[in-house]
Amino acid sequence: MSMCVRITSLFFFLFIIIQYASCQLPSSQLTTMNNLRELLQANNIISKLNSLQNLTNPCSWTGVLCNPNNSFITGLSLSSFYLFTIQDASSWSSLVCGIQTLETLDVSNNQLAVIAPPLLLSSCGGLKVLNFSFNMLSGNIPSFQRSLERLDLSHNSLHGVIPDQITEYHNLSVLDLSYNRLNGLMPSGIGKLSKLKQLILSQNALTGAIPSEIGHLSKLEQLILSANNLTGEIPQLIAQITTLKRFAANYNSFTGAIPLGITSYISHLDLSYNKLSGSIPSGLLSQPNLLSVDLSFNKLEGSIPVNLSKSLVRLRLGSNRLTGEIPSWSLRTDVPSLTYLEIGYNSLTGMVPRELRLCKNLSLLDLSHNNLSGHVPRELGELNKLQVVQLDHNSLSGEIPDEISGLQILNKLNMSWNSLNGSIPPSLSKLQKLNNLDLQVNNLTGPIPNSFGTMNLLLELQLGRNRLSGVIRSLPTNLQIALNLSRNNFEGPIPASLSRLQSLEILDLSNNRFNGSIPNFLTQMGSLTQILLSNNLLTGSVPRFRPNVNVSTGGNINLSYPPPNPPPNPSYASSVSIVDWMNKNAVSVGIVVSSTALVVEVMVVVVVAVIVFRKVHRINT
Ligand SMILES: *[C@@H]1O[C@H](CO)[C@@H](O)[C@H](O)[C@H]1NC(C)=O
Ligand SMILES: *[C@@H]1O[C@H](CO)[C@@H](O)[C@H](O)[C@H]1NC(C)=O
Ligand SMILES: *[C@@H]1O[C@H](CO)[C@@H](O)[C@H](O)[C@H]1NC(C)=O
Ligand SMILES: *[C@@H]1O[C@H](CO)[C@@H](O)[C@H](O)[C@H]1NC(C)=O
Ligand SMILES: *[C@@H]1O[C@H](CO)[C@@H](O)[C@H](O)[C@H]1NC(C)=O
Ligand SMILES: *[C@@H]1O[C@H](CO)[C@@H](O)[C@H](O)[C@H]1NC(C)=O
Ligand SMILES: *[C@@H]1O[C@H](CO)[C@@H](O)[C@H](O)[C@H]1NC(C)=O
Ligand SMILES: *[C@@H]1O[C@H](CO)[C@@H](O)[C@H](O)[C@H]1NC(C)=O
Ligand SMILES: *[C@@H]1O[C@H](CO)[C@@H](O)[C@H](O)[C@H]1NC(C)=O
Ligand SMILES: *[C@@H]1O[C@H](CO)[C@@H](O)[C@H](O)[C@H]1NC(C)=O
Ligand SMILES: *[C@@H]1O[C@H](CO)[C@@H](O)[C@H](O)[C@H]1NC(C)=O
Ligand SMILES: *[C@@H]1O[C@H](CO)[C@@H](O)[C@H](O)[C@H]1NC(C)=O
Repeated sequence: MSMCVRITSLFFFLFIIIQYASCQLPSSQLTTMNNLRELLQANNIISKLNSLQNLTNPCSWTGVLCNPNNSFITGLSLSSFYLFTIQDASSWSSLVCGIQTLETLDVSNNQLAVIAPPLLLSSCGGLKVLNFSFNMLSGNIPSFQRSLERLDLSHNSLHGVIPDQITEYHNLSVLDLSYNRLNGLMPSGIGKLSKLKQLILSQNALTGAIPSEIGHLSKLEQLILSANNLTGEIPQLIAQITTLKRFAANYNSFTGAIPLGITSYISHLDLSYNKLSGSIPSGLLSQPNLLSVDLSFNKLEGSIPVNLSKSLVRLRLGSNRLTGEIPSWSLRTDVPSLTYLEIGYNSLTGMVPRELRLCKNLSLLDLSHNNLSGHVPRELGELNKLQVVQLDHNSLSGEIPDEISGLQILNKLNMSWNSLNGSIPPSLSKLQKLNNLDLQVNNLTGPIPNSFGTMNLLLELQLGRNRLSGVIRSLPTNLQIALNLSRNNFEGPIPASLSRLQSLEILDLSNNRFNGSIPNFLTQMGSLTQILLSNNLLTGSVPRFRPNVNVSTGGNINLSYPPPNPPPNPSYASSVSIVDWMNKNAVSVGIVVSSTALVVEVMVVVVVAVIVFRKVHRINT
């Protein structure tokens, strides 16, 4: 106990009062820890180990774990300690391995390039947990002591194959080799690791099939194989591991059918981005504890299973070849938990089921790119947790139901590319959280409701290719991404309210019947990169835009262009007149280009040619 009373400062004296631990470490461990502390200090590692701590009681240091009565050290975390700054990796490694009782060593996130020999084979005592994740290890996976129970080498640059030896670490329960450059096959002896609970091999370049021996891992809880180059069929035996809760094999090249009963025990299944074919087994979605299923981006056919688990939170079946109707799941059971439903990019037909209203927790609904028909059900308006609704690219008809305006936290509404008719409900302006509204390519008529002037969070408004009309009196005040009103029947002057949209990047008013002159304030909109005014009834002269704005004004019969004096910047000139003049849209509507405009354009071309010629000439002389 005498060595425990080395009071070095008044500060430490105050510390005694709150410090409460006994000091019974053997002197060898105390010496080792202080040597380690000094080594770190000598390398200018300002770390938790040498800050204001009781030098005689390492068990109280942050990152040091001792047994319950503090009589020996069991664990050491040197995570994020800048260990790479110590030139000689053996020095800290041998100190650490000198602690015979050490079971856990965490040196994650240190930019280490090598695992020094003391840490390998049996020279590091009875080490059970080794965490070398987030370092800069390269080369092959070395051999460790067989006592290891958890080995984490993830987020390094290891390459080569996974050594067979690893299957002899019989006590291994966690093996994480993810985010490396490992290639070759998964070791077939993997079935020998009978205590394995987590096998994480994602983000490597592994090839070949999953060995069916994996079915022998009777304690496996997590199997993560995402983002490799694995092929072949998913072994049926995986479905029989009763402990398996999470199975991710997404981003590989698996083929064949989804094994029957795959979700008998698994509650998180991710098989997205593969080449799986056949139909979705009818019981796949009905297991009572199921939480999340992602089968998107495969080649699955047939229809969506009708029985859905009450507990399911996330269902993603998008980008397959599914057909048939969207089942009215909630007719059979409530699906109160369903929060993410993504079944876009299939060939689903029939109507959007009214029963979706019972999925009270739905936050994302993506039914886009299908062949759905009928009306948009009013009942969608009851799902007040919806944030994203994508119904675009279907064959929906009828009017946009007023009830949609009840979706108080809706952020994105995309109903583009349908056959919706009627007018835009003024009540949509109640969607005060809406950022993106896309209704382009429908059959909508009538004006833009005046109430839209109150939509202060709307960043993007896409209304192109409808049959909208009228004079525009009011626009959302904060549009930034785009305002697209093209291919409608809007008339009257270019709305003055546009002048407030100082952050707008794309403005498309083309193919309407806007008249009057092109207001000068358009040239003052500082964020604009593209402005399309072609094929309207605009008159007067085109004001000068900044050279980086892509301007299109063709097909306005009575528009004149500014004289080329002072000589405009060549890129400006070409973007305004020449490109426009050749613009196909322009040709289709306004074949007659006024002779003055044509003369001006020819002059611009000549001036540009002269400038270019002069530059070339000057360089040559
Ligand atoms: C350090 O901890 C030991 C054991 O808990 C205690 O006896 C000693 O007084 C402490 N010393 C200081 C300087 O806090
Ligand atoms: C502390 O605990 C260990 C077992 O963890 C035991 O062997 C040892 O006798 C204990 N020492 C004291 C002083 O209680
Ligand atoms: C290893 O350390 C990393 C980063 O500190 C941590 O996220 C990970 O959970 C640890 N691995 C194990 C197996 O404990
Ligand atoms: C594996 O664990 C068992 C039980 O904890 C132990 O007896 C055995 O020595 C361990 N094996 C190795 C190689 O450390
Ligand atoms: C998979 O293999 C292909 C070619 O065979 C290669 O282009 C791709 O990068 C590989 N992917 C991975 C994750 O290694
Ligand atoms: C759906 O579940 C019901 C009862 O829960 C059952 O009778 C029916 O056979 C199941 N249908 C399918 C296709 O699995
Ligand atoms: C609905 O979501 C909320 C959180 O948004 C969650 O607390 C609640 O448990 C969910 N309800 C069901 C039935 O899952
Ligand atoms: C949608 O259905 C029509 C016929 O009803 C068919 O011609 C078309 O190919 C279908 N489109 C898709 C994407 O399945
Ligand atoms: C739009 O409505 C008109 C008139 O009702 C109809 O002839 C046309 O087929 C509709 N277009 C679409 C794409 O639904
Ligand atoms: C919308 O189209 C349907 C046919 O799909 C038609 O019966 C209805 O009258 C149209 N409504 C409007 C307002 O044009
Ligand atoms: C609506 O969906 C289409 C196709 O899925 C996409 O191109 C478009 O950008 C979306 N609109 C918005 C506002 O996100
Ligand atoms: C505006 O919308 C129309 C109709 O959908 C589309 O064709 C056009 O490309 C869009 N304009 C811009 C600049 O994206």
